[in-house]
Amino acid sequence: MYTQAMDTMGKEAGDGRKNVRSAEEMQLEERFDAQIDAGNFIEAKDWMPEHYRKTLVRQISQHAHSEIVGMLPEGNWISRAPTLKRKAILLAKVQDEAGHGLYLYAAGETLGTSRDQMLDALHSGRAKYSSIFNYPTLSWADVGAIGWLVDGAAIMNQVPICRCSYAPYARAMIRICREESFHQRQGFEALLTMMQHGTDAQKAMVQDAVNRWWWPSVMMFGPPDDESPNSAQSMRWGIKRVSNDELRQKFIDAAVDQAKVLGVTLPDPELRWNEERQAHDHGPIDWSEFWRVIAGDGPCNRERLAARVKAWDDGAWVREAAMAHASKHEPVRDAA
Ligand SMILES: [Fe+2]
Ligand SMILES: [Fe+2]
Repeated sequence: MYTQAMDTMGKEAGDGRKNVRSAEEMQLEERFDAQIDAGNFIEAKDWMPEHYRKTLVRQISQHAHSEIVGMLPEGNWISRAPTLKRKAILLAKVQDEAGHGLYLYAAGETLGTSRDQMLDALHSGRAKYSSIFNYPTLSWADVGAIGWLVDGAAIMNQVPICRCSYAPYARAMIRICREESFHQRQGFEALLTMMQHGTDAQKAMVQDAVNRWWWPSVMMFGPPDDESPNSAQSMRWGIKRVSNDELRQKFIDAAVDQAKVLGVTLPDPELRWNEERQAHDHGPIDWSEFWRVIAGDGPCNRERLAARVKAWDDGAWVREAAMAHASKHEPVRDAA
């Protein structure tokens, strides 16, 4: 994903320093605005307003955290994948998510925040990640449902970020999106195999997984546009290109057709085609659940964070060894 839902999490909505800007700063900001208006990319070395930088650090780091926390629910099934083929696919997919995290931490670092700072914010519970990963994976069908729905929603969210005004983020997203489309297809194909060739119990397992993942996936696009306070500024800056509700609608419309191919029912009795809007209407979304999970009270919040902190602590010796190795290869400085 996994960033859209996080647009509401910032507390830096105004830096309160607008009145004390120097003439030089105002000129730089005008030049920056003109670059944005012209649709040009901003590079790491370019001047940028502090609020733009902070918004990006928050969004990119939350996105990076989501990628690596997102490895946990599916990683849980690597040792129990039903066949060698499925195991190889799942291993590759989970490894891709680690790579996505690395591209994104690297993009975040170009804004002057270190990886250690970003990870410290995650481990201490100050930073957020996508709430979808706080749900458990109870059966093998959950792995397919995550690929189909969660990675499917991620693609909808992430394709517009390939045109984000901050170039290092946009470049990272281009690579990530190529892999996400493979993730979505492998999930859909795994479910389709069970629905077409599986036993009744396996088909029921698929339906159960879809029932549990549908609404959290719909919520991945974040709160409705009129309740998404940072969206307008992010749109103005070209960080965000398409609104939460528009993306959600696109996702739902695509999923309805795919559900028909699979032969599963989406758990929303109010889901129906609206001829006038040329889109599907859907039932009410339980936003109280969304806010509860974001606030830390989802089914697996504590478990996920504990797993990340443990991985970080267990990996300390690897980081130390890598630093020791790197220091041996540092160029010898001239005493003069
Ligand atoms: Fe990813
Ligand atoms: Fe993915």
